Amino acid sequence: MTRIALQSLRKEYAGQVAIPDLSLEIGDGEFFTLLGPSGCGKTTLLRMIAGFNSIEGGTISFDGTVINDRPPAERNIGMVFQNYALFPQMTAAKNVGFGLQTRRIPRAEADARIARALESVRMAHLGDRLPGQMSGGQQQRVALARALVIEPAVLLMDEPLSNLDAKLRVEMRETIRQVQHEAGITTVYVTHDQEEAMAVSDRIAVMNLGVVQQVGTPAEIYRRPANRFVAEFIGKTNLLERDLRWQDGRATVEMGPGVSIDVTGLVDPATQGRVQVSVRPEAVSVAAEGVPAEVLDETFLGSHSQVRARLASGEMIEFLEFSQQSSSLKPGVQLRLAIETHQLTVFDPDSGASVARGASA
Ligand SMILES: Nc1ncnc2c1ncn2[C@@H]1O[C@H](COP(=O)(O)OP(=O)(O)OP(=O)(O)O)[C@@H](O)[C@H]1O
Ligand SMILES: [Mg+2]
Repeated sequence: MTRIALQSLRKEYAGQVAIPDLSLEIGDGEFFTLLGPSGCGKTTLLRMIAGFNSIEGGTISFDGTVINDRPPAERNIGMVFQNYALFPQMTAAKNVGFGLQTRRIPRAEADARIARALESVRMAHLGDRLPGQMSGGQQQRVALARALVIEPAVLLMDEPLSNLDAKLRVEMRETIRQVQHEAGITTVYVTHDQEEAMAVSDRIAVMNLGVVQQVGTPAEIYRRPANRFVAEFIGKTNLLERDLRWQDGRATVEMGPGVSIDVTGLVDPATQGRVQVSVRPEAVSVAAEGVPAEVLDETFLGSHSQVRARLASGEMIEFLEFSQQSSSLKPGVQLRLAIETHQLTVFDPDSGASVARGASA
């Protein structure tokens, strides 16, 4: 078990800043995910933790000890990459055992550990297969077993599922979560897939341009995004331009003709005027009363439909319809939309920072 502390980390590539000043704390046994768009610095940061990248400023500590100058081999780290990186001429078992050979673990103990590691990823029956005789998912299981068998202090995974098809990705992320949980190893996981991040993580750091935008549990990040970037990156959202007004000591936003909502938790009590309101699609539903809208189109997705409608303001709003009578939502149909106010987040239109949220009805 290992606690990781990153303090004021800076990374430059030939004078170009990739990570200006990054601080994070990752707890013992935590499943911690770095999430962000391509090029935001996820791999860069993971490689700094592993010791493969130079560090231009700040410190990395494991359990309070600064390890900046410790070579990768002495950091006791297990790594899993996107492209499995198995030795093609070695069986699954030999691949898993490779790290034990270099650590001079006695044969009998090594065999037992290899068997346990293969068992933990449900590959015990395929120990004799060569990588070329295994599916992508099976190869990635072996890669995970190989990372775990050395009993590392820290497990680092860089997009380990991105070469797998959608169904296998879901299956494998459950395996990864389960194996990590059983082993209790502090894990830093990298992905640009927000759904995957939500499914596996204890906490997530959302990154953009080398800067951490927010750190929190999946629910905190989804329900209380710190800024517009996080709201748009994590799941879908409708951003509506509105005015925040004060009435009888209450901050309100008019969502549509005659439909106002109260907002609460104002960061600056003097906030008023132009704001952006983030409305998640699942917070909107067809109702007898609410904001008037006209259906634009509907996409049937099996368990539900995704509907796009136009508001009186001319803005488009997207929502989900779970009822089986969704065939009544033909283009041109006029309807009213109820909005669950506690799911709303209000942003400053210029900085994009969260300034308030919808009050519970
Ligand atoms: N070896 C390198 N030399 C110069 N610049 C680099 C190098 N590696 C990464 N960069 C730059 O640093 C930034 C962060 O890259 P990084 O690979 O960490 O992104 P990432 O978040 O892992 O993206 P992806 O999701 O595409 O893997 C990018 O602007 C990238 O171009
Ligand atoms: Mg990367």
